[in-house]
Amino acid sequence: MSSTAQKQNAIYSGVPWYDDQGNIVSAHGANIVKEKDRYYLFGERHTDTSNAFAGFNCYSSIDLYNWKFESIALPVQATGKLDRNGVGERPKVMQCPATGEYIMYMHADTMGYIIPYVGYAVAEKITGPYIFQGPLLLNGKPVKKWDMGTFQDEDGTGYILLHGGDIYKLSNDYKSISEQTCKAFEKGFESPAIFKKDSLYYFLGSDLTGWERNDNYYFTATSLNGPWTKRGLIAPPGTLTWNSQTTFVLPIKGSEETHYIFMGDRWSFPKQASAATYIWQPLTVKGYDIAIPEYEGAWSIDLSTGRISSQKIKPGKLIAADKLNGYLGNWVQGALSTMSSDEKNASFSFTAKATQIGFYGLARPDGGYAGITIKNSKGEIILTGTVDMYAKYQMVGLKYLSPVLKKDTYTITITVLGERWYWKNKKGDLSGSKGDMVSIARIVMI
Ligand code: DGJ
Repeated sequence: MSSTAQKQNAIYSGVPWYDDQGNIVSAHGANIVKEKDRYYLFGERHTDTSNAFAGFNCYSSIDLYNWKFESIALPVQATGKLDRNGVGERPKVMQCPATGEYIMYMHADTMGYIIPYVGYAVAEKITGPYIFQGPLLLNGKPVKKWDMGTFQDEDGTGYILLHGGDIYKLSNDYKSISEQTCKAFEKGFESPAIFKKDSLYYFLGSDLTGWERNDNYYFTATSLNGPWTKRGLIAPPGTLTWNSQTTFVLPIKGSEETHYIFMGDRWSFPKQASAATYIWQPLTVKGYDIAIPEYEGAWSIDLSTGRISSQKIKPGKLIAADKLNGYLGNWVQGALSTMSSDEKNASFSFTAKATQIGFYGLARPDGGYAGITIKNSKGEIILTGTVDMYAKYQMVGLKYLSPVLKKDTYTITITVLGERWYWKNKKGDLSGSKGDMVSIARIVMI
């Protein structure tokens, strides 16, 4: 969008991200590949209506804060497993050292998650186009499992990781599986991701709760063959991995320090395109212990030195929601200076001179969706968004922050949509929010 100046200077977790074109970044179940000075982010392109395959997106960035939309690296196919009636999830790209080709792996499935396999697609250029090849074969047969990840070891060998802990070694050209490296050793254990530090491998994954969050955990081993030793949770118990699910761990090797970025998804079904967010957190790694001890709402990393700093949102001005006027409809004052409403179309508007505007809110088990519009001084809508105020583990946090805008007087309007996050799994069990509540805690202006 022309009105955005695109100069974020931190990784903000749990808020919608805008790309260089003013569109919401849709790249979930992601991984990142670095080439020269650029980081390429691959992930699921979503809609706000269903879990049907909508393609895999590719974005790039030189700082991990500002993302340029590159391509729909793998579009919806006209026919076959990844057509508009299929499911495609967790794309992971690796460059094959033997051929130089880029290979994208994914979970391909039917809409009800009944007939899964690990598929792959091939490209000459990192941004694609990736040409879908069908299932990845082991002894001529597809691997019929769902959640998957990849890991490339220091010697260039590529591996496919599967839920439960299966690990498969790829052939030299990365287009088939040569052997099974490790047999599944854990029940559930979805969203598998491995990283390595010194000579220790860390295997992260989640419990099996659909799009709902749970306390993710990890194992360590000195060999990918195992044995894998269960070490515990990644984040403090009960925080449900700070309301997220693992997808990838990105090592940043700077000249002074090496850090590991935990990349997780905070899903939001059905509005996965607009309201699912990214939870990217610095992971502390000491011996067998890894952790995300605190939730960093905003933090930055110097990619050349590797130094990280936790930062509060830029100084900006914060105003408690219960000190403000501008509420329409039925809003109730509550703890933590919140103003809350679950009345459909109730709204709150606030006008300020700013370059960035947003709000903190109380995400709660009965939270619903909030619609966001931002108007400029001419009254033109320059940005829209959707924010999910649901959290199984209740948290106050930044829920929305506009991109950096031209200096002007802006009006942000937050509207109760009267809709909520919900998901019915294969067995018909319902998960998600118990209400449509929107709780605003503070308005932030920068
Ligand atoms: C959990 C998986 O980790 C996600 O990728 C997705 O497949 C959901 N299940 C669907 O319920």
